[in-house]
Amino acid sequence: MADLQIKIRQETESDYDTVFKVTKSAFADMPKSNNDEQNLVNRLRKSSAFIPALSLVALCEEKIVGHILLTKVLIRKRKNQTFSALTLAPVSVLPTYQKKGVGSALINKAHMIAKDLGYGSVILLGHASYYPRFGYKQCADYDIVIPFNSPPENCMIMELKENSLAGVSGKVEYPAAFFS
Ligand SMILES: CC(C)(COP(=O)(O)OP(=O)(O)OC[C@H]1O[C@@H](n2cnc3c(N)ncnc32)[C@H](O)[C@@H]1OP(=O)(O)O)[C@@H](O)C(=O)NCCC(=O)NCCS
Repeated sequence: MADLQIKIRQETESDYDTVFKVTKSAFADMPKSNNDEQNLVNRLRKSSAFIPALSLVALCEEKIVGHILLTKVLIRKRKNQTFSALTLAPVSVLPTYQKKGVGSALINKAHMIAKDLGYGSVILLGHASYYPRFGYKQCADYDIVIPFNSPPENCMIMELKENSLAGVSGKVEYPAAFFS
């Protein structure tokens, strides 16, 4: 079978309804999901953490089959210094299109754009066996703490530029949209 042709582009307002459905469907059977991810996307778009260039859709044969969103977070260091970073949440692929490279294409493209925009790192809470292939390491390796009660192997961070996390440790502050 020919490889799936995947196109990635920035999301537009007219994609919002489809992205809602794709996100809901991607997480519907995920045991650890609170099934609120589609609403989280809506809340984040309205927040000051939103970066339109980092809300991307994946298309196969002109149909939206996946979506990724990276938004702004802060790492608060000792002495109240802050360090800006991004969080990846959520990334969603329609069940029938999973394991065909769509998620990887979205993640790699989002990393490229984030780096071009000048961001140095991305933090996420996710599958321990999936994200290390992109370069994610445990937050604990950097003494960085995220405000969720999750096992350390699921709390991950990645440098988009070499040494961008040198000397950075502290607590991550997420947008309020993650807690409403
Ligand atoms: C996780 C997800 C985004 C990955 O996208 P994808 O297009 O299916 O993944 P890719 O085709 O790029 O990569 C395939 C690899 O991912 C792995 N993978 C897919 N879903 C996984 C999961 N839930 N846990 C661990 N690994 C997973 C596959 O096993 C495969 O591994 P292999 O290359 O070693 O065979 C997608 O499966 C999805 O939307 N899942 C439901 C929602 C979700 O879990 N989102 C992420 C929350 S952290």
